[in-house]
Amino acid sequence: MTAAPDGSDPAGPGPTEWTTGAPEVGVGPWDGPWPDDPRYDPELLAEGDRRNVVDRYRYWRREAIVADLDTRRHPFHVAIENLRHDANIGTVVRTANAFLAAGVHIVGRRRWNRRGAMVTDRYQHVSHHADVADLVSWARSVGLVVVAVDNGPGSAPLETTPLPRACVLLFGQEGPGLTPEATAGADLVVSIAQFGSTRSINAGVAAGIAMHAWIREHAAP
Ligand SMILES: C[S@@+](CC[C@H](N)C(=O)[O-])C[C@H]1O[C@@H](n2cnc3c(N)ncnc32)[C@H](O)[C@@H]1O
Repeated sequence: MTAAPDGSDPAGPGPTEWTTGAPEVGVGPWDGPWPDDPRYDPELLAEGDRRNVVDRYRYWRREAIVADLDTRRHPFHVAIENLRHDANIGTVVRTANAFLAAGVHIVGRRRWNRRGAMVTDRYQHVSHHADVADLVSWARSVGLVVVAVDNGPGSAPLETTPLPRACVLLFGQEGPGLTPEATAGADLVVSIAQFGSTRSINAGVAAGIAMHAWIREHAAP
């Protein structure tokens, strides 16, 4: 296969993909004189940077990356009910990082399954709310519209319903879906159209679709 213009293998992993074997992700020790910039981490410069971060942030301290992300975060937040330790929460957090959500809110149990987050939560502002009432009251206090995402009766089609720019997208869990308190407390409930036989799609997938709907509407070039 022909190499890409930058010399990389076009069939190889993309810049933000995970790999399990050689070649290693990331870069080795810094080559040449070290940059004089406090954003760089001496340990990473010395040992290399194998983190799953985009090239722009190679060798940067985590705090410097978060500070840079904070200058351009989008005004949507995501929230997910956490009653049963749903493994999808990590996926929601990782996608919220990729789409640069302003914040992530865990509603219910404080402990959540971090596995699917692949450490992306370290670059996010993650908050906890004891229940939906607490989330809704916080959202109102900062002027955010609460948009519940589920496919119950009376929900508006996501495909044709405008999403508010400043909002919290609230997701339910595998199994029970959103609690009645969540749908009652929301300003708007939107559903993702389905055409097959299954009652619902995976919560992490639904969250990705809803976040991307926001991106298409408010952040597309
Ligand atoms: C597996 S679903 C839950 C149950 C679903 N309400 C049912 O009746 O089977 C888990 C979560 O994924 C999201 N979800 C799944 N399918 C969806 C759809 N078609 N539209 C909107 N949200 C969906 C919602 O946030 C939901 O609470």
